[in-house]
Amino acid sequence: MTATVPPPGTTRSLRRRLWRLAETVTTPVLPSDYLDLIAPLRAGADLRGRILAVQPETPDAATLLIQPGRSWRGHVPGQYIRLGVDVDGVRQWRAYSVTSAPSRRADRISVTVKAIPDGVVSNHLVRRIRPGTIVQLDQACGDFVLPERAPSRVLFLTAGSGITPVAGMLRSGALAGSDVVLVHSAPTAADVVFGAELRGLAERGAIRLIERHTEVEGLLDVAELDTLVPDHLDRQTWACGPLGLLDAAEAHWAARGHAARLHTERFRPTVITAGDGGTVTFTRSSVTVAATGATPLLDAGENAGVLMPSGCRMGICFGCVLPLRQGAVRDLRNGQLTTALPGDGVRVQTCVSAAAGPCELEI
Ligand SMILES: Cc1cc2nc3c(=O)[nH]c(=O)nc-3n(C[C@H](O)[C@H](O)[C@H](O)COP(=O)(O)OP(=O)(O)OC[C@H]3O[C@@H](n4cnc5c(N)ncnc54)[C@H](O)[C@@H]3O)c2cc1C
Ligand code: FES
Repeated sequence: MTATVPPPGTTRSLRRRLWRLAETVTTPVLPSDYLDLIAPLRAGADLRGRILAVQPETPDAATLLIQPGRSWRGHVPGQYIRLGVDVDGVRQWRAYSVTSAPSRRADRISVTVKAIPDGVVSNHLVRRIRPGTIVQLDQACGDFVLPERAPSRVLFLTAGSGITPVAGMLRSGALAGSDVVLVHSAPTAADVVFGAELRGLAERGAIRLIERHTEVEGLLDVAELDTLVPDHLDRQTWACGPLGLLDAAEAHWAARGHAARLHTERFRPTVITAGDGGTVTFTRSSVTVAATGATPLLDAGENAGVLMPSGCRMGICFGCVLPLRQGAVRDLRNGQLTTALPGDGVRVQTCVSAAAGPCELEI
């Protein structure tokens, strides 16, 4: 029997025609919408992930094991992903550092979340999300990473959930030949995220671990590093934790002329100057609210029920940018004033801008 070989391109064009036919039959819902329901992680779909497991780490932190979709491109240790999840019917996006070591593109990844008081997404992820849930993901990004050639001497200065990007670096094995010191603060020994694993690394001599239990010993004063880690200024240092710790570390390293050796990762922006406050009108939503000069426009909109686009919520991803139709807003990070008149085409990052008088946002 002779097999008939279709001419080149015939199969593809047949597939295209069948797809168009399927689109006609399934309109107004597209075939890709049905595919999203049955194969949400397939190649070519928007990047999503399936929660495989939720593993408690401490009383208020948990690790989410996620199977990313086929279009996941992998990550470099220390990078973060944006994760979108529906909470009470509203899609919320937040950033989380990848805590798993890099592996093959098809492998599962993990993020570790610490629930913060009144935190919408962190409490949902730590306490309510169930295995099987599909979440939205973005490709990994961020420059809080190790250089290609690992430094011979490294200091990690972390507190609370700030251990997460560092856990990814330690697990990657990239620092196997380096002299690594980790100074980590948490309220108690039981609150240290990955406590058992870090203590195990210290026992095996892979790192020197200095734990600071702040409920008993008080907050770490960065100046104490002079005695805790006398050579800290000679080390390449990665610091991640509360704003107070990072601000103090930056001042300490800068005052001693070694700012270039300190790399920091902030989970929220430092507010330098508040705006003056004012009424914010979300023009397409026909909503007007009074907002204080310390309230990001993003929060003002969300609190008023406006469906605001967002991402990292700290001025790095530009996922929250909206046209400022008119009015004045102030950048909370540097106090810079931005004004606009209709037609100016000015766009602002709503997560780090507050009203500085009456203003109108197009949404
Ligand atoms: C690059 C990057 C990486 C991150 N990696 C991690 C991670 O690995 N693990 C992790 O748990 N979190 C991480 N975060 C923080 C995370 O994105 C969320 O900000 C955090 O989970 C709080 O979100 P929420 O919805 O629960 O709080 P929201 O409902 O947004 O805020 C509730 C209240 O808490 C305050 N708040 C917001 N964020 C913080 C914060 N980080 N610390 C203290 N108070 C806050 C708000 O001002 C508000 O008053 C990261 C953030 C960034 C930018
Ligand atoms: S949400 Fe990322 S820049 Fe505003």
